[in-house]
Amino acid sequence: MPKNLDLFSAPAQSEQAQAAIKIGALRRQLDRWAHQYYVQDAPEVPDAEYDRAFRALQALEAQFPECVTPESPTQRVGGAPRPELTPVRHAVPMLSIHTETDVSPAGALAFDARVRRELGLAPDAPPVAYVAELKFDGLAMNLRYEAGALVQAATRGDGEVGEDVTHNIRTIRQIPLRLPSDVPAILEVRGEVYMARADFERLNEAQRERGQKTFINPRNTAAGAVRQLDPAIAAQRPLRFFAYGLGEVTPVAQGGPDFATHFDLLQQLKQWGFPVAAQTTQALGASELVAFHERIAAERDQLPYDIDGVVYKVDSLALQRQLGFKTREPRWAVAHKFPAQEMVTRIEGIDVQVGRTGKLTPVARLAPVFVGGVTVTNATLHNLFEIRKKGVRVGDEVIVRRAGDVIPEVVGVVPGKRPSYVANFRMPRQCPICGSAVVREPGEANHRCTGGLFCPAQRKEALLHFAARRAMDIDGLGEKLVDQLVDGAVVRTLPDLYRIGLVGLTALERMGEKSAQNLLAALEKSKSTTLPRFLFGLGIRQVGEATAKDLARHFGSLDAILQASTEQLLQVRDVGPVVAEAIHTFLAQPHNVEVIEQLRACGVHWPEGPPAERTQLPLAGMTVVLTGTLPTLSREAAKDLLEAAGAKVAGSVSKKTSYVVAGEEAGSKLAKAQELGVPVLDEAGLRALLGQGA
Ligand code: IVH
Repeated sequence: MPKNLDLFSAPAQSEQAQAAIKIGALRRQLDRWAHQYYVQDAPEVPDAEYDRAFRALQALEAQFPECVTPESPTQRVGGAPRPELTPVRHAVPMLSIHTETDVSPAGALAFDARVRRELGLAPDAPPVAYVAELKFDGLAMNLRYEAGALVQAATRGDGEVGEDVTHNIRTIRQIPLRLPSDVPAILEVRGEVYMARADFERLNEAQRERGQKTFINPRNTAAGAVRQLDPAIAAQRPLRFFAYGLGEVTPVAQGGPDFATHFDLLQQLKQWGFPVAAQTTQALGASELVAFHERIAAERDQLPYDIDGVVYKVDSLALQRQLGFKTREPRWAVAHKFPAQEMVTRIEGIDVQVGRTGKLTPVARLAPVFVGGVTVTNATLHNLFEIRKKGVRVGDEVIVRRAGDVIPEVVGVVPGKRPSYVANFRMPRQCPICGSAVVREPGEANHRCTGGLFCPAQRKEALLHFAARRAMDIDGLGEKLVDQLVDGAVVRTLPDLYRIGLVGLTALERMGEKSAQNLLAALEKSKSTTLPRFLFGLGIRQVGEATAKDLARHFGSLDAILQASTEQLLQVRDVGPVVAEAIHTFLAQPHNVEVIEQLRACGVHWPEGPPAERTQLPLAGMTVVLTGTLPTLSREAAKDLLEAAGAKVAGSVSKKTSYVVAGEEAGSKLAKAQELGVPVLDEAGLRALLGQGA
């Protein structure tokens, strides 16, 4: 009876009402995510999260079919094409591949067993021949060539209908626009468009420098680039391509190619100019598939691009036809995945690390998560602005990516999972390692420790810089030795270098008495230096060789520099506010001044003079070019002398060159000087010019 029914269905109706609310919420969520993914190229959740919500919606809609509307995301599989991109119906549908669930190498055994069973092979029948390929983590593309010319490039879409993206695909240099004359009249090449990891890192580095939002991963970036409406933007996102199959091709009966195996077909594609991955190989039986899986899993990190697994395909095209398809998947191919390179985990804290150059990097401490084949407990957050842009806070659930040997990074926050109120992260004002002031240079995104050579985190870098040829020129003090000296706590600060004795040195591993003697001699020799070299060697940010020379020339003595105000520093040629500020900050740290004093106390010395005006120097306004080998003066020494006398030392000869100083084996520069009539000097001539000669 209707009346009774109404009564009985009352609770059900409220259940349906509740479901409707939930369905509405899921749809809004999915639409928002789809918009981020497809339109903004900036998804905030991993695909797996999207899929989970999508399946939840599908399940609810199946339970309450009255709630299904044409606008539901479930009703437009693959996401709606942008209205501006033209739909393309594929001549041959673009299928998907079955994914083997067992991620261990043994997953290959299951596939082989299935193939053998479906082919009706006896257990003692010979092994099946396969092709093993990489499973590229990009997006599938169908390239249609007619009479050898690229006429259309289309995305996979839902497999039946994709989108015309020819305008963007034409910008990919790896994709031939025209093929050799022996190609069939109709040829559709299928493969993967992807972005190499290094290109992705470079792109993100540039985004970070410009203070713009970074991209999540190479795949999303490639997908976004391909679906750009403006090919100029696509062209700025360096994309690449690997071919792995065919779509529609002129039939054999009409003169089309007749391949016996998938491998032959790939060789032909290579011949026609398409990139085919070098790892692609023929493999006999399950054991060789397992070996391939193991080999590629070990090589994965070294590959220049992301892969999410390997693909096995039955090699014989006749057997492929015999095996056929099961719904939308071929029975002759399978995808065998590797561990995911992106996972969700929780941030337990944010630490700050100090790098060798003094850069402060916020690092997320994570609930341990297995990603990219290893357990990750830390991931970089790059800098404060990245944290702000991504809205990362302690307690958040975040997406962590680890691909290749690139350090793991937090690429985004899973929204709506923040526990209760958590304070925004702040950069420390003092270096967590040495306590020196932390600064951020105008226009720079990075914070830096000003401790320089005082900061233990920067010690090795500071020592190497101090010892460099253009600085104190300490022969033999290279990276390995610096590592030993610092790790063995033999050297803590720069002055310690001049306090090492023979005993301390020979105690080091792999340090013989002879090398120790040599190093001590080099250290002794380095004590006699020039003010510019010393200043440059201190490693003050913004103070390169040229600025060090300008400072030395302008002030004449170190004490004058130490006492200079910012205003006085600004009077030095080429010193602007940024440089003046960097020098001032460095000298304002008492421990830096202390180091300088101690170095002097150790016997480091240089000639000093009164402050000099550039125009008063004897060679002011002259430009000199050095070429060839001089009998006694090294190139560096000659340069130092000339510059101290006010001359500019240039690298190439022009009509404006005042002199060319030529030594033995002088080449094209000498010839150029003679051609232009520029006066040429030898070492004696140079000394005369400098007022040292006879
Ligand atoms: S073959 C009938 N080979 O994986 C088989 N696909 O679900 C058609 N993919 O989106 C695909 N590497 O873009 C094939 N070596 C490879 C592949 C590969 C990556 C992607 C493809 C598609 C998905 C298949």
